[in-house]
Amino acid sequence: MAEKFPNHIAGEWSAPAGGEYMENRNPARTSDLIGRFPDTGPAELEAAVASAQRGFAQWSRTPAPERGLVLKQAGDLLARYKEDLARTMTREMGKVLEETRGDVQEAIDTAYYAAVEGRRLFGRTAPSELRSKWAMSFRRPIGVFGIITPFNFPVAVPSWKIFPALLCGNSIIYKPSEDVPHSAHRFVEILLEAGLPPECVQLVHGRGETIGQALVEHPDVPGLSFTGSTETGSRIGEIAGRLHKRLSLEMGGKNAQIVLSDADLELALEGVLWGAFGTTGQRCTATSRLLLQGDVHDEFVERLCYEARSLRLGDGLEAGVDVGPLIHEAARDKCERYIGIAEAEGATIATGGRRPADGGLVDGWFYEPTVLTGVEKGHRAAVEEIFGPVLSVIRFDTLEEAFDINNEVRYGLSSSIYTRDVNASFRAVEELDNGITYVNAPTIGAEAHLPFGGVKSTGNGHREGGWEVYEFYTETKVAYVDYSGTLQRAQIDVDW
Ligand code: UN1
Repeated sequence: MAEKFPNHIAGEWSAPAGGEYMENRNPARTSDLIGRFPDTGPAELEAAVASAQRGFAQWSRTPAPERGLVLKQAGDLLARYKEDLARTMTREMGKVLEETRGDVQEAIDTAYYAAVEGRRLFGRTAPSELRSKWAMSFRRPIGVFGIITPFNFPVAVPSWKIFPALLCGNSIIYKPSEDVPHSAHRFVEILLEAGLPPECVQLVHGRGETIGQALVEHPDVPGLSFTGSTETGSRIGEIAGRLHKRLSLEMGGKNAQIVLSDADLELALEGVLWGAFGTTGQRCTATSRLLLQGDVHDEFVERLCYEARSLRLGDGLEAGVDVGPLIHEAARDKCERYIGIAEAEGATIATGGRRPADGGLVDGWFYEPTVLTGVEKGHRAAVEEIFGPVLSVIRFDTLEEAFDINNEVRYGLSSSIYTRDVNASFRAVEELDNGITYVNAPTIGAEAHLPFGGVKSTGNGHREGGWEVYEFYTETKVAYVDYSGTLQRAQIDVDW
């Protein structure tokens, strides 16, 4: 009988009141049952919200530099438990150990950045229009934030949201993806060990349709941060708009790597293999389109297919494995469905396009790294997010055409260009409609201390990470201090 894990509500680890649980299985070998995690019902949210409000009352009055020390401690603990945490993550979501270690490192970096921000959180002073009067702005915490996170970065993405939210003095209710509850459990344990007052963090496991929705709709949760699909994000946006909630959305991508014929083709090849098949293609920043200039197309595709076939699929905990499984059956079904759609549209499967033949992999959700050629502008395989190891190759002739193909999709997260032409590079930086453009580097690999996010249907204008996220988790307040001892009427009592 697998271990039953608790929620963390009202400062205590507790079993779900309804007694319902969900199984958490290893996607590389589904016979490996990791544990049972609460399928929390909406009614339990009340206790979590009431506790988070008490947590907020206490934490928001704690000086920001002191809050920063808790985050420094969280960073130190993440570093201490890095290996163990990486193994926990690989076991429950499949990406290879090297990548889950990187995932923890991103959280460590985010913690240390947040820690020092506790001594900054700058406001501004501005000269007043009037004499003997000061005008200034400063940042206030907002309240209880609902944090809803995906499976693909089980520690890094929660850290992008939770660390700045806490540093700013808010409390949080954390609803992790039902696919990575064990990592979430460890994450909350680490926050508590770091010295966070227990009522500042509530962990509610469960489904999006039940506890997730209740969190989004709760009137006493004034802020929400969500990473996931554009469809779910749109639904959350409708509710949040109606209830005047502050909301940060980080959603889909259909990211392109553009390769011009003057590029270092070896470098471009390494880049696309990592961008397209790292994390089994399950990143919102994954390279899912490769745009090749006509004269290098055929040779590049040949090399790419050869290298894609050499990638070793397997359990990410094993040494020498390059690509892990997909997260679950539905994710693999989606890849298979899109291969059918692409073929019907006239594309060719240049390599992959099936489940691996290796008998040792039948117990996991594996899918071969796949390259589709002959994909054309406007095809569904060219514009829709597949979220798996499926790369659509599109041929182009001119730079303008490549930019046009990049920009035709409804998403706008990241893009990449490989070229030795400095003018083409800077044109790409300026003209590609994305939140991030990489030059001579793949579409993945954002750093924790720069703003992360996308344009169009990828986001709703906010950024995570860097300095900008601190704007999202605080409200700007302005104070005027008049020490003239007289009534000075703004805009009226001016002598100019
Ligand atoms: C995501 O896929 O949700 O830039 C985030 C990257 C990573 C983060 C990806 N640092 O690919």
